[in-house]
Amino acid sequence: MNAMPPAPRGVINPDPNPAVTMTLDAAGGVEITDIDTAQPLSLCDRDRIKRLFRAHPILVFRGQLLSKAAQYAFTENFGEIEGLHVGRHTNAEAYTAVHTVSNLDADGHPSGAMKERGNYFWHTDKSYHAIPSLLTMLHAVDIPQEGGQTQFANTRLAYAALDDATKARIADLRAVHSWEGSRINSGSPPATDAQKLERPPVDHPIVRTHPDTGEKMLYLGNHSHAIIGMGDEEGRALLAELLAHATAAEFVYSHQWRPGDLVLWDNRCLVHRARVHANMGQERRVLHRTVVRGDAPY
Ligand code: OGA
Ligand code: MN
Repeated sequence: MNAMPPAPRGVINPDPNPAVTMTLDAAGGVEITDIDTAQPLSLCDRDRIKRLFRAHPILVFRGQLLSKAAQYAFTENFGEIEGLHVGRHTNAEAYTAVHTVSNLDADGHPSGAMKERGNYFWHTDKSYHAIPSLLTMLHAVDIPQEGGQTQFANTRLAYAALDDATKARIADLRAVHSWEGSRINSGSPPATDAQKLERPPVDHPIVRTHPDTGEKMLYLGNHSHAIIGMGDEEGRALLAELLAHATAAEFVYSHQWRPGDLVLWDNRCLVHRARVHANMGQERRVLHRTVVRGDAPY
């Protein structure tokens, strides 16, 4: 069940250390070594990358010198770029499609305040929308010496590993996702009334079908907080149990960032989270982010 297809041509495992190679394989990611993402892609390379993305939901490109404009152009290869990000309206950059994820405070100094607190909890991007994100792309600008990884858990592998009784039990269940519930789950400042109006709760199947591959995967995380037709506590407990299963070490890849890394991932079949770093108050962690719109989960 966990056997991955052989690595396609043009892709190598990033590290000769077998333990690290295994971990990357566990979540189905690969490193692509022969693409300069700052240059326009040939049709052939674009098709190859898209094909790889179907089989490997995490793509890692190292050493990319990428302006925001170039990141925007590269992201456009994958679909419609999302421009507006709820809750990120406080900084001027939030209005641009290539925005910044960082530990910097309003004065631009590193801070341990865990800004964007929700990112530190397992989630899939924008699942509080009726049409959540297809993929997210982060380009590493400033990276701390220690810690600050992004972790990815493969919810397709996790679904496949469930026993039949659990698969039958959750087959038709739908979870409620909302910005408001997400803020509560992560202990963030509560959603404002305006945000609640802007982003009312939505519901999605807990067992989602991948539109490209037809495979089933778990769809849940920090933005989900209830199950339709179930009591609050029972629903929360089941979501927590499934998330704990999905994020077991065997399904997780932990990306250790280097400046210049460009990582893109499939939000439909992964949950992800940021890790704190050792000196949050002293060291900068700055990444540029783009997001591509997906389609309604089924
Ligand atoms: C994101 C996110 C995690 C990180 O950008 O969607 O969750 O490691 N980031 O910064
Ligand atoms: Mn995220």
